[in-house]
Amino acid sequence: MEIISDYLVIGSGIAGLSFALEAAKMGTVAVVTKKEKAEGSTNYAQGGIASVFDQEDSFDLHIEDTLKSGDGLCHEDIVRLVVEEGPERIRELINMGVSFSHQEDDGDALDLGREGGHSKRRIVHTKDRTGREVERILLDRAEENRNIRIYENHMAIDLITKSKLIRRGIVASETSETCWGAYVLDVEQGEIITFLARVTVLSSGGAGKVYRYTSNPDIATGDGVAIGYRAGAKVANMEFVQFHPTCLYHPMAKSFLISEAVRGEGGVLIDRHGNRFMEKYHPLKDLAFRDIVARSIDMELKKSGDECVYLDISHRDPEFITDRFPHIYETCLKFQIDMTREPIPVVPAAHYMCGGLLTDENGKTNLRNLYAIGEVACTGLHGANRLASNSLLEALVFARRAALRSAAEMEGSLDQALPKAPQWDPGSATDSEEMVVVSHNWDEIRSFMWNYVGIVRTNKRLARAKTRIGIIQAEIKEYYWDFLVTLDLLELRNIALVAELIITSASLRKESRGLHFNLDYPSQDNVHWRQDTVLWI
Ligand code: SIN
Repeated sequence: MEIISDYLVIGSGIAGLSFALEAAKMGTVAVVTKKEKAEGSTNYAQGGIASVFDQEDSFDLHIEDTLKSGDGLCHEDIVRLVVEEGPERIRELINMGVSFSHQEDDGDALDLGREGGHSKRRIVHTKDRTGREVERILLDRAEENRNIRIYENHMAIDLITKSKLIRRGIVASETSETCWGAYVLDVEQGEIITFLARVTVLSSGGAGKVYRYTSNPDIATGDGVAIGYRAGAKVANMEFVQFHPTCLYHPMAKSFLISEAVRGEGGVLIDRHGNRFMEKYHPLKDLAFRDIVARSIDMELKKSGDECVYLDISHRDPEFITDRFPHIYETCLKFQIDMTREPIPVVPAAHYMCGGLLTDENGKTNLRNLYAIGEVACTGLHGANRLASNSLLEALVFARRAALRSAAEMEGSLDQALPKAPQWDPGSATDSEEMVVVSHNWDEIRSFMWNYVGIVRTNKRLARAKTRIGIIQAEIKEYYWDFLVTLDLLELRNIALVAELIITSASLRKESRGLHFNLDYPSQDNVHWRQDTVLWI
């Protein structure tokens, strides 16, 4: 089966849907999403969107905080354009119907939250459910738009590129590598569909599932980075994996984040004996940058042998806590933890991929017709460590820029027919009777990535991880060609590749900076390493 549209969007979070809504003004848009349409990281984002609205704040201060957090690797031009375009993008969301929290004593003014690394209050939020509210409105608007069609339970396998078509003698070889859509698995039917498009957008989110402990939902298997890289797109800064300092520690609480906003509103980190410890590590204490807080917790746990530390906000008025953090309060209560009266047990967990597919200021990758936006992309905004709540902002700004840019480029080629792509050929692949290979390798990757390529790295640990990923990659390759593709196999193939890219990038960087901390090179080397780590095939 073949489906043709002007735009193909892979992923239905804030980045993909914002792009789709803008692009639908110029053409038809197919959005493919591998689970239900709302099941992305956006939906789980608690914190909010950082942007300058306060009279006492300024673009320069937001830029300065972002640059400090990025630890020398942010691209300042990109930081400026994102910060300056932010307020307008947020006003558009409000006009679409997104309901952000407002101040109690001035109903017209947005209630601005505070998070680590921000010198001012600037987090626009909907209590502690910002992502869910934004996703709800974007989905409503996309569903009423006749130019947009959303395909749920459809997982992109690989991009359709010019070199693939050349190899099969379908197009002539000239100009640079071009993308013409993707092969996509209809998960429920087990059928592989050819989606052809003039513009393809990867917006499938992050890769937290590469690690054993993560704040991310199950869908976060680094699909976009893996798909783009296999097609020849450049990937940058994959060593910079952000570990969120505070995920709920409870055997039954899978991936539940305790927002940084809790510390922004006075929450403090304490050890098992009730002692605060962040003052030992940084003058900003509990509101230091995330890499510092996560590393400090890691050190405390390694020293004490304890399994978790605690986040205490019980000194604040219970009414304030339940009103500001209803979702966190209710979820903790389900696990018999009453945050208005007692500290919450927390541990760090993989949270955000600062690296990704390298793009320009319009979200364009090095492949013609291929864009990457949201967590899947490395735009230069985050550098070596993302500032809290800058990610939804980046997604909004780049979605619009990519839509405008791709429309302008597409205009000149509308009269050209799309190439005829061959149907997916399964070769002699059969149904697998050995799914244990998939589940075993999946567990093994997540385990050694956590132990060897986690918050604190060493050369030896990285070398061990490299050997292991090599063996697993060889097994997956063999398995992939022998058996019919399934969602699990595709995800495994993607997390294995993303793990390899993280290990390779971390091994190349011979210094410690931002989120990358290697005990064998504990200091920063601005002479050799003040640059992005870029990989491509
Ligand atoms: C949080 O609420 O702590 C997460 C926000 C973010 O990662 O930007």
